[in-house]
Amino acid sequence: MQIDFQHLKEFDVPVPRYTSYPTALSLTECKAQEVVEFENARRPDGPVSLYFHLPFCQSLCWYCACTKIITNDRSKSRVYLERVRKELQLKKAWFEGRKMTQLHLGGGTPTFMTTDELAELLQMTREVIEWAEDAEIGIEIDPRTLDEGDAFKLAEAGFNRASLGVQDHDPKVQRAIHRIQPLEQTRAAVESLRAAGFGSINMDLIYGLPVQTLESFNQTIEDVIALRPDRLAIYSYAHVPWAAPAQKILETRYGLPSADEKIQLFLLAAQKLDDAGYVHIGMDHFALPEDSLSKALNDQTLRRNFQGYSTQAGVEIHGFGMSSISQTDRQYFQNAKELEDWEAAIDSDALPVIKRVVLSEEDALRRDIIMAIMCSAKLDLDALSGAYGWSADDFQDEWSQLRVMQDKGLVELEGSTLQVTPVGRFFVRNIAAIFDTYRAAQKGFSKAI
Ligand SMILES: C[S@@+](CC[C@H](N)C(=O)[O-])C[C@H]1O[C@@H](n2cnc3c(N)ncnc32)[C@H](O)[C@@H]1O
Ligand code: SF4
Repeated sequence: MQIDFQHLKEFDVPVPRYTSYPTALSLTECKAQEVVEFENARRPDGPVSLYFHLPFCQSLCWYCACTKIITNDRSKSRVYLERVRKELQLKKAWFEGRKMTQLHLGGGTPTFMTTDELAELLQMTREVIEWAEDAEIGIEIDPRTLDEGDAFKLAEAGFNRASLGVQDHDPKVQRAIHRIQPLEQTRAAVESLRAAGFGSINMDLIYGLPVQTLESFNQTIEDVIALRPDRLAIYSYAHVPWAAPAQKILETRYGLPSADEKIQLFLLAAQKLDDAGYVHIGMDHFALPEDSLSKALNDQTLRRNFQGYSTQAGVEIHGFGMSSISQTDRQYFQNAKELEDWEAAIDSDALPVIKRVVLSEEDALRRDIIMAIMCSAKLDLDALSGAYGWSADDFQDEWSQLRVMQDKGLVELEGSTLQVTPVGRFFVRNIAAIFDTYRAAQKGFSKAI
């Protein structure tokens, strides 16, 4: 596919990634008690997904935009874990009679903790909620911190899905981003996880890093395809130096690829993965056809949440640990972002929540519209709005903005239906943003490309 980026430059502006709508920036300060009262009044009985944010990492990757704490003090994880135990107990009443269908450990680096600590964390969850028999128990793994034998211990503890941070295998790129991770180390991690019986392995790569070339990225993709992960996330490098100051090193020392170069890198990866039999999912994910993510795409049950794409439609997410966000049907709420604030709340037996947004009926409809665009790359506006007692006529402003995008070849409109074109996929966030009523007043997003 050829893309003439020159006439699309106007769309390379900061836009949200829409892991949720409204986005995390729409959350405003609140009292924890308000969140508790809202949740207590609902008394839902559906399935639950638990997310744990484990922030510690041994060394700083200069590109990293995650919420993390760099330390060599191994004792920190035990202290953190004990507070997570307390946080679970504080929320226990919400989980009575319900089943946990999914659990995910993200970070930071969950494998900064010892395998015994991670096993203990899983055990703690069993004390507050019953696990569904086929629950997906996932963990983000930095292959640099996975020792021999760890994979077996993790499987024994109950983990069955792993997501490996890889980013790029080229030694020059690795030096530039301050993350030395030889291909052998990644391969050893994949092999040990497979041998331990992990059912699904994901890998994260990033395009748009300094020193990356079409040739070097081609090699990285070939190496990764040879390892045959079930899923791949090929993230666009998000340059947000105001939030992640170490990123300035990349900018000043090496310079960053242009938007045009980034598109070429992604097209190369997408083509090679297509040739290797992977299905392109949503914005930046790829999965083998037999993977549940590909099946969810076919069944139109694919969803997006704060951790990315998910197969678990209609499942509430409850977050634990500093900065984690919970997503229930009509309320999103976030824990204190700083470690000390999260600790202080837990130590005084209070929920560590500091921000929330309550979704209006209109927010919920706009969320469904935005998620349809982000997950299925298509939209039936009349059908979706009808479910909320609205109609496509209520979105005339949005539709006229979409007509401009149609003229640029990003979408095809017919009646009240929309289909994102292959070129439009690069700008799917911009297309979704047309339905976002909060965005005009918000700053701090990474650029579309
Ligand atoms: C929490 S890390 C994964 C686990 C572990 N800490 C590791 O690095 O192996 C989450 C992922 O976010 C992605 N990421 C971090 N900073 C990013 C950025 N600035 N732009 C795009 N992706 C980024 C990386 O692909 C990384 O693997
Ligand atoms: S990419 Fe992973 S290991 Fe590197 S700093 Fe970020 S969270 Fe830590």
